[in-house]
Amino acid sequence: MRWCHDIWCLYWMSISRWWGARSPDPVRRSQGMIDQRFLDGTDPNVRSGQQDMSEILVGVFGANGKMGTEVERAVRASENLQFLAGVDVGDDREDVVEAAVVVDFTTPDAVMDNVEWCLSRGISMVIGTTGFTAERLATVRKLCEENHGTGVLIASNFSIGAVLMMSFAEQAARFYPSVEIVELHHPNKVDAPSGTAVTTAQRIGAARAAAEMGEVPDATVHDGGARGAIVEGIHVHGVRLQGLVAHQEVLMGATGETLTIRHDSYKRTSFMPGVLAAVRYVVKNPGLTEGIESVIGL
Ligand SMILES: NC(=O)c1ccc[n+]([C@@H]2O[C@H](COP(=O)([O-])OP(=O)(O)OC[C@H]3O[C@@H](n4cnc5c(N)ncnc54)[C@H](O)[C@@H]3O)[C@@H](O)[C@H]2O)c1
Repeated sequence: MRWCHDIWCLYWMSISRWWGARSPDPVRRSQGMIDQRFLDGTDPNVRSGQQDMSEILVGVFGANGKMGTEVERAVRASENLQFLAGVDVGDDREDVVEAAVVVDFTTPDAVMDNVEWCLSRGISMVIGTTGFTAERLATVRKLCEENHGTGVLIASNFSIGAVLMMSFAEQAARFYPSVEIVELHHPNKVDAPSGTAVTTAQRIGAARAAAEMGEVPDATVHDGGARGAIVEGIHVHGVRLQGLVAHQEVLMGATGETLTIRHDSYKRTSFMPGVLAAVRYVVKNPGLTEGIESVIGL
C-alpha cells in the first residue's frame, strides 16, 4: 500500500502546484510555485498537527505597513485561515479580540504592549517585528506561562531560504577561521544590523565557541568605522539601498578558499509561506517558539 500512498502524494502535489500556478490571484499563484502542501498545512514537515481544514481566525497588527499588507493578502488567499481584521496606529485593538492568532509586524517600540494585550486575552501571536533582546524574550516566555495555553512564535526571518542560509552558515562555521556578514536592505528599514544578521551572528558565534575556534583573524588597529558592527565577535556590515528588499551574504574564509552563502528576498511574498505555517503551528503549540525551524522540521 506504500506505493499507492506515494503515487497519491505525487498526484496531489502536481495538482496543487498546477492549480496554484494558474490561479488569477498573484499571491496564490506564487504560493503554488513553492509547495501548496506547505501552505495549506498538509505538509508532513509542518509539525502543527493541524491537518484538518478548520479555519483559524487571524488578526494583523501593523496592517497598513509593508509586511502587514502582505500578511492580510496571504491570509485572505489561504484556504484554512480566515482574516478577521487589521489594526494599525489609531485603530481599536478590540477589532481583533475574537482572533485565535494575531500576526504582528509593527515596530520594536510597539510590539511588547501588543504582546501583553493579546496574551492577557488568550490570543496567540506570530511576531515578525524585530528588536527582541534576551530580556524581552524572557518576558514573553513568562507571559505565555501566566496565560496558560497561549503560544507566541517570534522569528527574525520567515523566509524559508533565509532560515536555510542561517542553518548552512551554522554548519559551515567550524570549518572557517574567518567569517563576516553583509546584510543589504531597502533604505526605509529603521534598525541596523537586521534581526536576521544578528541571529546569524549569534548562531555562528555559538558554533565557533563550541568548536573552540577563538577570535576571527583581523589585524585592524586603525578603524575609521569601516569594519562594521561586532555581534558575538562577528563583523556585520549593513547596506541600505533603493531597489533592494532583504538580502544577506555570509562570507567565510580559510587558507586558499572562501565560501559565500547568499540569500535574496526580492518580494515580501517570500515571507508568507513561513508566516502562514507559523500561524497554524502556534495554535497547537503553547509557550514561546523562537524561529520557524521547528515549524518546517529543520
Ligand atoms: N521577521 C521577518 O521575516 C521580517 C520581514 C520583514 C520585516 N520585518 C520586521 O517587521 C517590522 C515591520 O516591517 P514593515 O517593513 O512592514 O514596516 P512598516 O513601517 O511598513 O510597517 C509597520 C506598521 O506598523 C504600524 N504600527 C506602528 N505601531 C503600531 C501599533 N502600536 N499598533 C498597530 N500598528 C502599529 C505602522 O503604522 C506601520 O503601518 C519591522 O520590525 C521589520 O524589521 C520582519
